[in-house]
Amino acid sequence: MPVPTIAGNWKMNTTVHEATRLATGVRDGLRMSSGVEIVLCPPFIALQPVRDAVQGSPIKVGAQNMHFEDSGAYTGEVGPLMLQGLCEYVVLGHSERRQLFGETDDQVNRKVKAAFSHGLRPILCVGETLEHREAGRAGAVVAHQLRDALSGVHDISGLLVAYEPVWAIGTGQAATPEIAAEIMGGTVLASLTALFGQAADDVPLLYGGSVNPENVGSYLRLGAIHGALVGGASLDANQFLQIIQATAEAKL
Ligand code: PGA
Repeated sequence: MPVPTIAGNWKMNTTVHEATRLATGVRDGLRMSSGVEIVLCPPFIALQPVRDAVQGSPIKVGAQNMHFEDSGAYTGEVGPLMLQGLCEYVVLGHSERRQLFGETDDQVNRKVKAAFSHGLRPILCVGETLEHREAGRAGAVVAHQLRDALSGVHDISGLLVAYEPVWAIGTGQAATPEIAAEIMGGTVLASLTALFGQAADDVPLLYGGSVNPENVGSYLRLGAIHGALVGGASLDANQFLQIIQATAEAKL
């Protein structure tokens, strides 16, 4: 059974000072026995301060992106060797990376492989645009993204998949639980099972897109959904803590 997981994607928000304060707020508000895996994904420059802030608590830290090469002439990039020891998780293939920075399925695939080979747990993001959905292609697009991102990968231990329909991110228009369950319990699980057999059953599947304390329970009550990747609501310690609490209540 996959571990219920709530990850906060802070995106390009928080100064180092604000990041430290936010991480401290989550740490201090956490009920130790919540039983939910909690991951904070601050900007790169706040990884170390956030790591320091949550030390001694069960909270884990993740990066929001990563280059696939170990090192080299890649101005402005951060590679896996730099993240090793600094965080346990890395968000890869987020739709903002794909749409705003031109990240391709091939690059996402290289990043996923680099994460695995450096002991980082990838939170692999997939999701269709509104255009894809209206054309009836949501499932096909998600299946294609998964297949490409995991091409050449043989062992998926440590993998998490986040289904984030692009039209639901930051819009306040969360996907209905039925839509999320259809893609996650259907397309995503079927694709992972076709590729990796029973190992697919251990992969935590996270829903992402306008998750908040009020709606998170409606996803988590569905068997196919094990957690959430939270953007906006993760920037407020109280809201994020309420999401964790609702997850604990729905899953444990
Ligand atoms: P949102 O972002 O919760 O603000 O919609 C989710 C994400 O982009 O991971």
